[in-house]
Amino acid sequence: MTYLTLDGLAKRYGDLTVVEDISLNIERGEFLSLLGPSGCGKTTTLQMVAGFTEPTRGRILLEGRDITDTRPEKRGMGIVFQSYALFPHMSVAGNIGFGLEMQGMGRSERSKRITETLELVRLEGLGHRYPRDLSGGQRQRVAVARALAIRPNVLLLDEPMSNLDAKLREEMHVELRAIQKQLGITTILVTHDQIEAMTMSDRIAVMHGGRIVQVSTPFDAYERPESAFASSFLGKTNCIPARIVDRQPGCCRVEMGGLNMRIPHESCQFPENIQVYIRPEKIRMVSSADSRISSVVRARMFLGNHWAMEVDGPLGRLRVNIPNVGGPPAFEGDTVHLAWQDDDMRMLEAEAAHV
Ligand SMILES: Nc1ncnc2c1ncn2[C@@H]1O[C@H](COP(=O)(O)OP(=O)(O)OP(=O)(O)O)[C@@H](O)[C@H]1O
Ligand SMILES: [Mg+2]
Repeated sequence: MTYLTLDGLAKRYGDLTVVEDISLNIERGEFLSLLGPSGCGKTTTLQMVAGFTEPTRGRILLEGRDITDTRPEKRGMGIVFQSYALFPHMSVAGNIGFGLEMQGMGRSERSKRITETLELVRLEGLGHRYPRDLSGGQRQRVAVARALAIRPNVLLLDEPMSNLDAKLREEMHVELRAIQKQLGITTILVTHDQIEAMTMSDRIAVMHGGRIVQVSTPFDAYERPESAFASSFLGKTNCIPARIVDRQPGCCRVEMGGLNMRIPHESCQFPENIQVYIRPEKIRMVSSADSRISSVVRARMFLGNHWAMEVDGPLGRLRVNIPNVGGPPAFEGDTVHLAWQDDDMRMLEAEAAHV
């Protein structure tokens, strides 16, 4: 049975609708991310689940029980806010024990739980410190510990890693995911960081303008985006205007930049004008005999594990990522020969590009 259900949630402030019709079924133990750009309604959605914001419409069910009107502290959820919101005048142990005290847990049991939770987030021995005497990453872990100490039924995380540097953030992704799995705790993470969503989640709900536009595994969200928005929000992509010239069983024949391409597709129920998407890492440099197109290298950047090149050719300007396996693959001004598989091209309606 679904553990947590968001059923047609909406939020309006006066005439402004900030969340429209959000429906999601989340399984027990699942890690789901709400991923979308600033202002798309992620925090508002999370706050409705937490009970701090009252929905204008819709219901929230926990194990089939309607909790839409239940007070936040009665929902049993653990929350980590973007700002951490630690109590500055309380020690780490005080912060972690606060919710337990509110629940009426006795002193000795509380102390045991605090110690356990500190171990879980690898902050053993720091219970006596104050938030001001901790690093950003440690404070962030105290915030997670505080949310976990009450053994919440659901963990809600609102951009909890946005204040950390890139390396620490990456470490926290791994740590937090391990803790979440160890405890089997149902988790919703709000983020605008696609890497964060992809590395941690079982499923990603991509949000745009107060709606969910796609719910899928990280792999499908990246490889099979269902809209131009999802395609460009998750990673970089090349978008090429194209026209369907023939529909055959299992594929379309498409004209783009004066070239004729075959794109496999189950139904091919697109209008004539479409956009074709190719990820930069799917394009390879090959010999002229094996190439689909030739292009001139306009710019080249070294990014450690790959070279990012911008090339100009019959399909316009393309971004091409070449893995770093030694020396530079080409120089600015060089002509390069490029190929990719039929399967690497994705089609979407041209109109969808303006979503
Ligand atoms: N109390 C409020 N009154 C009026 N408008 C609000 C209120 N709270 C949020 N909004 C608006 O709702 C929209 C969605 O806000 P929300 O905080 O949910 O976005 P978000 O996706 O979390 O963005 P970010 O990534 O920047 O945190 C924004 O346009 C915001 O200005
Ligand atoms: Mg937000």
